[in-house]
Amino acid sequence: MTDRTPILHTARGAALLLNPSCDRAMIYGPAQQAILSLNALETARRTIAAWEGYKPTPLRNVTSMTTAAVGELLYKDEGLRFALKSFKALGGAYAVQTVAAAHPDPAQLTFACATDGNHGRAVAWGAARAGAKAVIYLHETVSAARENAIAALGADIRRTPGSYDDAVRQAAADAEANGWTIISDTSWPGYADIPKLVMQGYALAMRETWYAAARPTHVVAQGGVGGFAAAILSWLWEYLGANRPVFIVVEPENAACLFASARNGALTPLTGDISTIMAGLECGEPSPLAWEILQPGADAFMTIPDLLAADTMRSLAGLGIVGGESGVAGLAGVLAALDDPAAREALGLTSASRILTFGTEGATDPEVYRAIVGRSADEVAASR
Ligand SMILES: Cc1ncc(COP(=O)(O)O)c(C=O)c1O
Repeated sequence: MTDRTPILHTARGAALLLNPSCDRAMIYGPAQQAILSLNALETARRTIAAWEGYKPTPLRNVTSMTTAAVGELLYKDEGLRFALKSFKALGGAYAVQTVAAAHPDPAQLTFACATDGNHGRAVAWGAARAGAKAVIYLHETVSAARENAIAALGADIRRTPGSYDDAVRQAAADAEANGWTIISDTSWPGYADIPKLVMQGYALAMRETWYAAARPTHVVAQGGVGGFAAAILSWLWEYLGANRPVFIVVEPENAACLFASARNGALTPLTGDISTIMAGLECGEPSPLAWEILQPGADAFMTIPDLLAADTMRSLAGLGIVGGESGVAGLAGVLAALDDPAAREALGLTSASRILTFGTEGATDPEVYRAIVGRSADEVAASR
């Protein structure tokens, strides 16, 4: 920790870092538009809106979850995104469809990816819709329920030793050897076009919200490799410039590769144990493409301990809202900040603030959900 990057620890065990590299005067220019743009989002929006069952996910008012003075606290419920229960449907399936549409015979294509659950489900779903095959790589700690949900879509499952980041490498090597198309949600040198499509699809979640909500003053997104957060931020930044809301990225304290990168002012992969109950956020290596947007554009980074995610799932369930472990991370982070006077001040949170959070998944592992909340997702949803 340097003086330039002091970390604030909240009473509820969260940590907050104001991004020392954030440059609010910077224009969202051609370099950023080459990664994510409002124009490219329009293509994604038209494609996704034509899918059967498409409708914008609901925006829930969860202001009652905090006793702190705040204007409005909103939760965009991606648990109702198609039948996949996460925002990931917008990214992986869109990239698959774009590749398949450009191929004379999509049935000849095999799509491969690594996943901690949700991305692989989206790629498998997209491949099935395109009449193509899917091979999905799961690292050793991905739960059986998540594996089953992907296999049920017809995908071939491969288990790999090590972490998500190891599975990414294995999937890429096997795809290269077998002539498959790799649909990764993270980028690496020489591989950017597909992660751009994946992220571009995610940005639809922000576009949907903007027209449904009073202008938020603060937007909070959770980070795994950073693709989702970068997509949401890109929309706000290109559309609103320096007048955009304060943008906060939240990660599990054990897998906070974006927080570490912000602190160091450079991409920082983590080594060692990165395990967390927030399985979708259990990533140790940021996406370089995402980092190009987040480093200059995000105002703050936060980490939360697992217990705050679990508490937040239970509190949401009290309102009849089903949020999965990774899905509630942003909300958990901002609730911790709201409770802490120093964090409130650092983030400019006042009684007039309108805060938008993204519930990026529902009960994507129903057994884990029941173990944490004490009721099934169906029972919780029925209680609303
Ligand atoms: C539910 C959920 N939320 C958030 C994320 C984070 O997305 P990203 O890895 O693009 O940062 C993931 C990633 O898998 C996820 O599954």
